[in-house]
Amino acid sequence: PHCFLNLFCTLLTTSTMAILKSLKCVCHLCVNHTCETEAEGACWNSVMLINGKEEAVKSCVSPSELKGQVFCYSSRNVSKRNCCFTDFCNNETLHLSPEPPPEGSGWSQLELAAIIIVPSCLVCVGVILGICAVQNLWCNLIKAHKQDPEESLDDQTLVSTDKCLKELIYDMNTSGSGSGLPLLVQRTIARTIVLQESIGKGRFGEVWRGKWSGEDVAVKIFSSRDERSWFREAEIYQTIMLRHENILGFIAADNKDNGSWTQLWLVSEYHEHGSLFDYLNRYTVSVEGMIVLALSIASGIAHLHMEIIGTQGKPAIAHRDIKSKNILVKKNGTAVIADLGLAVKHDSNTNTIDIPINHRVGTKRYMAPEILDDSINMSSFESFKRADIYSMGLVFWELARRCSIQGIYEDFQLPYYEQVQSDPSVDDMRKVVCEQKLRPSIPNQWQSCEALRVMGKIMRECWYANPAARLTALRVKKTVSQVTVVKDVKE
Ligand SMILES: Nc1ncnc2c1ncn2[C@@H]1O[C@H](COP(=O)(O)OP(=O)(O)OP(=O)(O)O)[C@@H](O)[C@H]1O
Ligand SMILES: [Mg+2]
Repeated sequence: PHCFLNLFCTLLTTSTMAILKSLKCVCHLCVNHTCETEAEGACWNSVMLINGKEEAVKSCVSPSELKGQVFCYSSRNVSKRNCCFTDFCNNETLHLSPEPPPEGSGWSQLELAAIIIVPSCLVCVGVILGICAVQNLWCNLIKAHKQDPEESLDDQTLVSTDKCLKELIYDMNTSGSGSGLPLLVQRTIARTIVLQESIGKGRFGEVWRGKWSGEDVAVKIFSSRDERSWFREAEIYQTIMLRHENILGFIAADNKDNGSWTQLWLVSEYHEHGSLFDYLNRYTVSVEGMIVLALSIASGIAHLHMEIIGTQGKPAIAHRDIKSKNILVKKNGTAVIADLGLAVKHDSNTNTIDIPINHRVGTKRYMAPEILDDSINMSSFESFKRADIYSMGLVFWELARRCSIQGIYEDFQLPYYEQVQSDPSVDDMRKVVCEQKLRPSIPNQWQSCEALRVMGKIMRECWYANPAARLTALRVKKTVSQVTVVKDVKE
């Protein structure tokens, strides 16, 4: 057993000595460039930047240095370091980068850090400044246009370019934000419209066809001196709950100051047929076509005139400039009421009208007798509605003349074309309408067609000298709609 113990002891001593034996290492500062470690030592190989130059250090590491770990793995100037445990294992040459930099071009870590960090910081600052600038711009846009101090820049106010106008307006209606898009959306739309061609000129400016996001829109451009008309028209169009299939669809209002003057835009839906005046000049209409137009005109005016009570209600509105040029014809043959710039709203709580009214606005040819002779009762809002009905009767007359029955129809004419010249004065009109009590003539042949007979009857009941005796828009709407029913039954 002693022999086995001796053998075991001998083996243990030999193996321990092998593990703990000293190492030979490359050493720059040693004689023969070689050093020998103590037992449990290691060879040291490092490269460090000293005064911008790579300096390699190869040496022996004592066990006490090695136990300090820190020495092997961390040193401020050492970028690469290696402790190894076989003879001359530190012979390989380390470099800080795969290719050693050319003489004199080495950078300190601080410089390297500066090279990386400074441009990154500049980019970040640039991005932050950019975001601030854009935000500031938006804020200024809102401030410049702000009429409602409570209006905030919420998600709704951002125009998503993949939304078409119909969707934007649908969103607006369903979100309960009334009859207008948020101001910022309006401005964004207006400023991205490309004008295409001028399509007409009126008293308060020029109308253009424009393109927005591939869709046609109508742009009415007011001159700066007509700012009040622009503002009023935009205000009326944005009356809560005004939107209706027979009222021109308002899209946006924008005032853009270009330094020397202010451009005032009113953007609305575009109807390629143009006004009823344009349409009737160009085409005749069938009985059905006439009824559809008459019904939609009466429906539009009835909606304007109607007061809807409640938080989502609308005030009664009188148009005050009903005429064939202010009614537009849609592609589907129905009509919309346009040009709301002269309209007045009724406040039923106080029984007042929202603006100080100057009487005798509107188009003289279409003025009701009580306006022409100044006998209108301005203290009653009903008076303005009744004056609208008189004008609507004249539009019905223009329309019915163009109804073609078995190829028989009249030419297009403005009301009172036989009595007055173009652009008549109030006095000219008063003499005809009030003194002579003339009204447009109703052709005999209208009696032979049910629809035209009804239309003729409606006209006469819209033209009474006594405003209180006239039909209401709602009554006209009902009567016209019954014509279609009668006709359908006959068919
Ligand atoms: N939304 C629209 N879509 C298509 N055409 C339009 C639209 N709005 C206006 N127009 C055309 O532009 C013309 C000019 O319109 P505008 O309302 O400026 O003047 P007007 O009605 O002719 O005269 P007034 O100044 O007396 O109202 C209209 O007659 C019509 O032909
Ligand atoms: Mg007009």
